[in-house]
Amino acid sequence: MDRLDCQARLMIVSDLDCTMVDHDDPEDLSLLRFNALWESEYRHNSLLIFSTGRSPATYKKLKNKKPLLTPDVTILSVGTEIFYGESMVPDDAWEHYLNHKWDRDIVMEETTKFPQLTCQQAVDQRPHKVSYFVRNDHAEEVVKCLSERLANRGLETKVIYSGGKCIDVLPLGAGKGEALRYLHDKLKKNGKLPIDTLVCGDSGNDTDLFTVPEVHGVVVSNAHDELLQWYEHNSKDHPKIIHASERCASGIIQAIGHFGLGPKTSPRDVMDLCRWKTANFCPSQVVVKFYLIYERWRRAEIENSDLIIQDMRSISHPNGIIVLPSGVQCSLRERIDAIIPCYGDKRGKCFRVWLDRVSFSQISSDSWLVKFDKWELSDAGRQCCSTTILLNLKDEAEKTQGPSLVHVHQTWMDGYAASDQTAWFL
Ligand code: GLC
Ligand code: MG
Repeated sequence: MDRLDCQARLMIVSDLDCTMVDHDDPEDLSLLRFNALWESEYRHNSLLIFSTGRSPATYKKLKNKKPLLTPDVTILSVGTEIFYGESMVPDDAWEHYLNHKWDRDIVMEETTKFPQLTCQQAVDQRPHKVSYFVRNDHAEEVVKCLSERLANRGLETKVIYSGGKCIDVLPLGAGKGEALRYLHDKLKKNGKLPIDTLVCGDSGNDTDLFTVPEVHGVVVSNAHDELLQWYEHNSKDHPKIIHASERCASGIIQAIGHFGLGPKTSPRDVMDLCRWKTANFCPSQVVVKFYLIYERWRRAEIENSDLIIQDMRSISHPNGIIVLPSGVQCSLRERIDAIIPCYGDKRGKCFRVWLDRVSFSQISSDSWLVKFDKWELSDAGRQCCSTTILLNLKDEAEKTQGPSLVHVHQTWMDGYAASDQTAWFL
């Protein structure tokens, strides 16, 4: 789908810190579970939106550190900046709209009168967001008093307390919820409102998201007090909002299942992946599953059996070709055969594989072109290559059954080539 031009089956709007990303999970296992589910089942017909308090610079930092997928829309600085697509095209109309009854200088004049407030770092100060730290026991009083003073100065603002320590001052029309309403309105005008929307959060600046009409919502188990209190008072018995019993991205997966929003089993939760069949054939499942088996093989997390070796080999077409990112072309079968002796070479080590931006198009009755970015994390750092695969469902002449990879073509992603290119398999 041309991402925003089609009606999405599901739109997920998620906060990042302590919602999509669990900073207490050094291996990012819950995020990787979400990634595998999203790419195999949702990416092709749904929309992923990140909505964070982070500024462009600190969002970039997080992206370089954690295995975050590429969202379709990125909403930064607590709903004051909206960017579209992978190249992050800014929505200038939104920023312009936020100038209404907003004057940053007056906000600064008033905030500096509060000795309880400590200024946040410069990168977190944005054109429509002025941010401070506050002690928990001063927060309520400061929010009330500052809001009054700003109103007396003729401004229309919103003062938000988040994460037990942050205060953000924004234009009244801004915030995560307002930004989502704006996006929904845009899509609705074109008749493309998503069938379902799920909002996900853990702290005060996410409260707004749960007030958008018609959305489903999940407050993750590890949420901060200020959001939990809001939930207790406002939506405890709301049929569309839950407080998950699971943390972060696992709470998001839990909510997908709870509300019946679509497939809820992450391929990472399936032990016997080789035998795993879903109700409908989908090319994205084939590639996610293939690379997961590859990861587990090298981590020795699956059995080293003839049956699995046979399965791994049979997914490659006997005449299949791979063009490696180095430009070298070789037989796909030989390449897979070369992985077999590497069973367990990453046992107990840092080694993860995930796919991003999986898309596919059908090119004949039984073949598809599948494209994605393949990421590999190891002790040597992160590598990524753009991959295109020709996938065949059946080949009468070769008597192959089930999906097989016929042609694989890879190119390094700028800045992410493997330092040891001989260690790159596929
Ligand atoms: C993020 C931002 C910070 C903001 C906080 C709460 O941590 O970096 O500036 O105050 O979110 O919205
Ligand atoms: Mg958060």
